[in-house]
Amino acid sequence: MQSLPQKDSISVDIPLQSIFDAASQQGIEINRLTGAFFIAAGFILLVVTGLTAYILYRFRTGRAPAATRSPAGSWEVAMIGIPFLMVGGFLYYSIHTMQRVLPDAAGRTPDVIITAHQWWWEARYPGSGAVTANEIHLPVKKRLLLRLLSADVIHDWWIPAFGNKMDLVPNRENHLWLTIDKPGVYYGACSEFCGAQHAGMRLVVVVQPQEAFDKWQAHHAAPASPEAAALPGAALFMEQTCADCHRIAGTAANGTTGPDLTHVAGRQTLLTGLIRNDRAHLEAFLRNPQERKPGIYMPYLHLADSTVKALTAYLSQLE
Ligand code: CUA
Repeated sequence: MQSLPQKDSISVDIPLQSIFDAASQQGIEINRLTGAFFIAAGFILLVVTGLTAYILYRFRTGRAPAATRSPAGSWEVAMIGIPFLMVGGFLYYSIHTMQRVLPDAAGRTPDVIITAHQWWWEARYPGSGAVTANEIHLPVKKRLLLRLLSADVIHDWWIPAFGNKMDLVPNRENHLWLTIDKPGVYYGACSEFCGAQHAGMRLVVVVQPQEAFDKWQAHHAAPASPEAAALPGAALFMEQTCADCHRIAGTAANGTTGPDLTHVAGRQTLLTGLIRNDRAHLEAFLRNPQERKPGIYMPYLHLADSTVKALTAYLSQLE
């Protein structure tokens, strides 16, 4: 897997993401429609500015020929008829594109269920039972159905390279279809203001060849490493109330308020891609969760230094 670019020791630097660099079938279709709109708008701009320039020149003061009425309203017919046809044509093309990009999904089992939370993303894979957070893995060249839910307020899914965008609304099920053409790491962000850390609610999607994705999925459907459970940090995780908010499959920790940590060490970043996932960053985060991402629901826990170290050692083993 391609590793994430790093700007400095603190944050993860994200390369420029552009809608024009479409990496999905849906993105290509949307860009085709946008392109047609741009060409038509450019044509109208040229005609209007051309006619304006011509009229200014032809009827300028000093020359002033008498304006004559064109016969039988032929201009009026053209001026009403051409825009009417263009609006009609684009209405048809827009509806056609919408139906191709976002067909109905009633009765279909989604490939992934994405739930947005303040301020992180949860991904569940109903076919396998795999669960992850923030670094969402998807297979390449497969038509995928994503079900989009929200646990609290309205969020918005937006990966520029994939083209399509969709709100995640509380008490409502939305969906998206995605057929991604190229493997790679794609970035986006929540695009609906959702509170204090809206700007820190990045989206990271790792697109893999089918075989690598299947391997990843099977691993993420399995419980956490039993060897890690013997570490002192495992017991502290239960004692220090971590288990009330986080789940680690295969242990008694079953919280659902915060991200699933069953395979947290397998992720390259923490905090929706804000920091690198290594011991130093994890330790700093546990010491004061509010420092890097102020406002998040993980409180300052006043953990003893030895506890922080033991928890870090434990979580780092959960690959
Ligand atoms: Cu979630 Cu903005």
